[in-house]
Amino acid sequence: MSARLLSPVLILATIMTMSCSSNSGHSASSVSFGKLPSGETVELYTLKNAKGMEAAISTYGGVVVALKVPDRNGALGDVVLGFDTLDGYLKPEPYFGALIGRYGNRIGHAKFTLNGVEYRLAKNDGENSLHGGVRGFDKALWKAKPGVQSLELTYLSKDGEEGYPGNLSATVVYTLTDDNELKIDYTATTDKDTVLNLTNHTYFNLAGQGEGDILAHQVTINAGRFTPVDSGLIPTGELRSVAGTPLDFRQPHAIGERIGSNDEQIVLGKGYDHNFVLDRSGEGLALAAKVVEAKSGRVMEVLTTQPALQFYTGNFLDGTIHGKGGKVYGRRSAFCMETQHYPDSPNHPDFPSTVLRPGERYHQTTVYRFSAGA
Ligand code: GLA
Repeated sequence: MSARLLSPVLILATIMTMSCSSNSGHSASSVSFGKLPSGETVELYTLKNAKGMEAAISTYGGVVVALKVPDRNGALGDVVLGFDTLDGYLKPEPYFGALIGRYGNRIGHAKFTLNGVEYRLAKNDGENSLHGGVRGFDKALWKAKPGVQSLELTYLSKDGEEGYPGNLSATVVYTLTDDNELKIDYTATTDKDTVLNLTNHTYFNLAGQGEGDILAHQVTINAGRFTPVDSGLIPTGELRSVAGTPLDFRQPHAIGERIGSNDEQIVLGKGYDHNFVLDRSGEGLALAAKVVEAKSGRVMEVLTTQPALQFYTGNFLDGTIHGKGGKVYGRRSAFCMETQHYPDSPNHPDFPSTVLRPGERYHQTTVYRFSAGA
């Protein structure tokens, strides 16, 4: 093509694309998200894919601050709860978008015994330890290494941090694929025997963050069993069939359809706040759940290598939090699908093991895949 056939607009567009991307449409860029009280700077990275989908991720807590996903008309909507500024995340808040470690969900009586040694953790949820303790991985400043359409975050959790043994070196890679998938790869190694259960605590509303409750979302979960809980939401140790209970999501059901049931487990959870044992064979990525929001047409599928999934329906949100764009986050205005090992596994030798030993490499992958139906 000769130069005189190129319009000035096309030339300008070409220069702009080259300056922010290495491939057409793909990019990773960052801005300052503010400073921590310690003076350290927090960065906010934005990943974009060729289809226009965007993910904004903070180095504080590895938080997914925004996730812009097309609806059936191609209009982008932010489908995750969170805050416009870092300040929101520095106040007490319910783990919006954050990476969770060392141990996702609860450890009963905030203690466990490993190799004959008892380890005591902070009681930050009644008698129990929740989501890694007072200063879990959600409150850590992660080191970032951006790729073209990915972001690698690393964090060294020191021996004894929050009561857990071993220097644990954790790496989380977020990748935004051109198939509209947000992929999260977790790896970790340790220099002493320890326990580990990493997850991500994103709150989704497929109609858009702050756009009402999620009760009409249709959910399918490939789980024939769940781990029933006591009043402190600690597993009793039983693996119970979902058959005939409001926790049977093997066929699609609206979240709101049975959430008001007087089923003992729904009452204890104040809604859904349960660990679903996934029906899976082999070790690779398997489809764990699917969520459909009819008005926008948005569909989210969750694929994971993990054995279980905490399905939580925002039962503790109460309208006191004002999030992005001043939106009020009322009860059940979002849901979480935290792929994980079972809660309290360190105290249940018959649950799949969460022990990581020196020389071993922890590796889990979860994919949140988006599409839009007719
Ligand atoms: C998890 C727990 C819930 C609740 C939220 C945070 O999903 O299972 O009980 O603690 O985190 O509010």
